[in-house]
Amino acid sequence: MTEKLWGGRFKKPFDEDAKTLSFSLHIDKRLYSYDLRTNSAYAHALCEAGILTQAEYARLKQCLSDLHTRFEHEGDSIFLNDEDIHSCIERLVTAELGDLGKKLHTGKSRNDQVITDVRLYLKEVVIETQNKLQTLLKTLYKLAEDHQSTLFPGFTHFQTAQPILLAHHFLAYFEQFKRDLERFQENVKRVDVLPLGSGALSGNSYPIDRYLIAQELGFSALSQNSMDAVSDRDFMIEFCTNASLTMLHLSRFCEELVLWSSPLIGFIEISDAFTTGSSLMPQKKNPDIAELIRGKTGAMLGHVVGLSQLIKALPLTYNRDLQEDKAMLFESADTLLLCLTCFEKMIKEVTFQKEAIQNALKKGYILATDFADYLVKKSIPFRESHDITGKVVLYAIEQNKQLEELTLPEFQAISPVIQEDVFEVFNLMDAVNRKNSIGGTAKNQIHAQLNRIKESFKW
Ligand code: ARG
Repeated sequence: MTEKLWGGRFKKPFDEDAKTLSFSLHIDKRLYSYDLRTNSAYAHALCEAGILTQAEYARLKQCLSDLHTRFEHEGDSIFLNDEDIHSCIERLVTAELGDLGKKLHTGKSRNDQVITDVRLYLKEVVIETQNKLQTLLKTLYKLAEDHQSTLFPGFTHFQTAQPILLAHHFLAYFEQFKRDLERFQENVKRVDVLPLGSGALSGNSYPIDRYLIAQELGFSALSQNSMDAVSDRDFMIEFCTNASLTMLHLSRFCEELVLWSSPLIGFIEISDAFTTGSSLMPQKKNPDIAELIRGKTGAMLGHVVGLSQLIKALPLTYNRDLQEDKAMLFESADTLLLCLTCFEKMIKEVTFQKEAIQNALKKGYILATDFADYLVKKSIPFRESHDITGKVVLYAIEQNKQLEELTLPEFQAISPVIQEDVFEVFNLMDAVNRKNSIGGTAKNQIHAQLNRIKESFKW
């Protein structure tokens, strides 16, 4: 037998550079445990189909299990000049069991094998992602609970807009990550499908029981078309798209952490554990982890485009282009899981600087809309009250005063409808509590939302 899996019909050796381009072991070696499992389940099916005896199946099963231990202990020294993890494992089994090892590949192709391995791997990743998102949601919930009375400036255009409760800010991100969780819950249904038994493209000529394989590997469904099964990469693109959306959400929050922790704003201090110093400027405490999460988001989107381009205009069925999928998928999964872990730990340890937040609330005429609403209550149409408020704000800016620092005569010089009761408008918590529409920032709305969450998550 030739050393290559496909050597029989070739006379010349494979070109060395072509080998570098095509060998994928350095990427797919991490699939070894999944490949051993799929081989073992397949051997079982071959046995049930009468192609292997019980004794042969038992020997194969033992060999694959021993190999698992060897992979764990021997590290990279186990690899020789193998094309990919599948050929590596076939070589190792054959080295141990001789002709019996060569039987393992009966009816099985690397085309249905590789995608079975990847689906097993990705299923675990999606479950882990869901767990990490759940942890993050719990942390955000706790932060919202702790800050149900903390006033905070709300921004539009990053200009001071209206006062909110800090809990409302956390719960805004809660909604984003909750949608992310739902997307991964959907995604897992399409990952959890067994392709093995599809052969190279057209199916398997041996009477193997695909249900048995699915059950042994823990898949919930069987692929229904062998040609689709070996060429489908949609579930990966879906995963990477979901991962990108989660990263986009993380990047928005990280951007805020970067801004808030700047000495120019000073709303928060990020823990030493998630910041770094400067090698030159001793005063610096840089929010590198938030910046890196923000920075890695771009490449995540790149992987969605990269994977999509792999299948764009790709004819059925398996084409070698598809081998390029794994580097992008693994990179996306690794980055997502690490960023979720780091972010959750980092946000938990952020400390809020009350004084800086208080000062910001005093600036920026944050209650100007409430003042306009006050005029509406005095029967002035909103457009007009908006205009009067604009004039009041302009006057206050010129006088270098805040709205509440203006005197009644100053107010009345602009509009005579303004009365002594105007000063009641300038209470931040009252303004927050007026936003009492469902989903608004009022205290009792936050309370209601926390309860709804608790109920729906059964916490
Ligand atoms: N290393 C290959 C991949 O990752 C395995 C499948 C190879 N199939 C083939 N017909 N060359 O896609």
